[in-house]
Amino acid sequence: MADFEFKAVNRTMLEDIRIIERYCFYPYLYRSTRYFARKILAGNFVAVYIEQTCAGYISLTRHRSFLEISDLAVDIRFRRLHVATAMLEWAIRRCIYLHVAKLRLVVDEENECAVKLYTKFGFSFLRSRKNYYGLRNGLVMVLRIR
Ligand SMILES: CC(C)(COP(=O)(O)OP(=O)(O)OC[C@H]1O[C@@H](n2cnc3c(N)ncnc32)[C@H](O)[C@@H]1OP(=O)(O)O)[C@@H](O)C(=O)NCCC(=O)NCCS
Repeated sequence: MADFEFKAVNRTMLEDIRIIERYCFYPYLYRSTRYFARKILAGNFVAVYIEQTCAGYISLTRHRSFLEISDLAVDIRFRRLHVATAMLEWAIRRCIYLHVAKLRLVVDEENECAVKLYTKFGFSFLRSRKNYYGLRNGLVMVLRIR
C-alpha cells in the first residue's frame, strides 16, 4: 500500500469529498460549500490521498476550549487501513498547534465502527445527547491532549 498523502482541502477537491460524503451518511448529510469554505479558510480541513485517490477526510470546528471533529469519513475501498486513525493523529497535532487541550466529537450510538475507532484511539464517553440523530442518541466523546 502506497503512503498516505495529507492535503489541505481546497475548493477544487470538494468534488472528491462529496463522492465519499454521499454514500457514507444516511440520511444524506449535505454540507454546503459555504460550510466547507469556513473550514478551508481556518486550515481545519484535510483529506488523505492514496495513489491520487481521495481515501478520506476530516474537518474540525474550533470552540473556545476544544476542537470538535465535525466530519470524518473514509472511502469504503480504503477502510481498515488506519486512514481514520492517521486523520485523528492529524487532529491531535492540530490541537497541539492551536494550544487546545481537548478534542471532542458526537457519534451516533448505533455507529459501532466509529465508536470502536474512537474508543480504541483513547476517547472516553462524556455524556449522551438524546435524539441527536433523529430517534437515535448521540454520544459525546472526548480526548484530553497531554
Ligand atoms: C468509521 C470509519 C471512519 C473508520 O475508518 P477506517 O479508516 O476504516 O478506520 P481505521 O482503519 O483507522 O480503524 C482503526 C480501528 O477502529 C476499529 N474499527 C474501525 N472500523 C471498524 C469496523 N468496521 N468494525 C470493527 N472495528 C472497526 C478497529 O479497532 C480498527 O483497528 P484495527 O483495524 O487494527 O482492528 C469508516 O468506517 C467510515 O468512514 N464510516 C462511515 C462514516 C462514519 O461513520 N464516520 C464517523 C462519523 S462520527
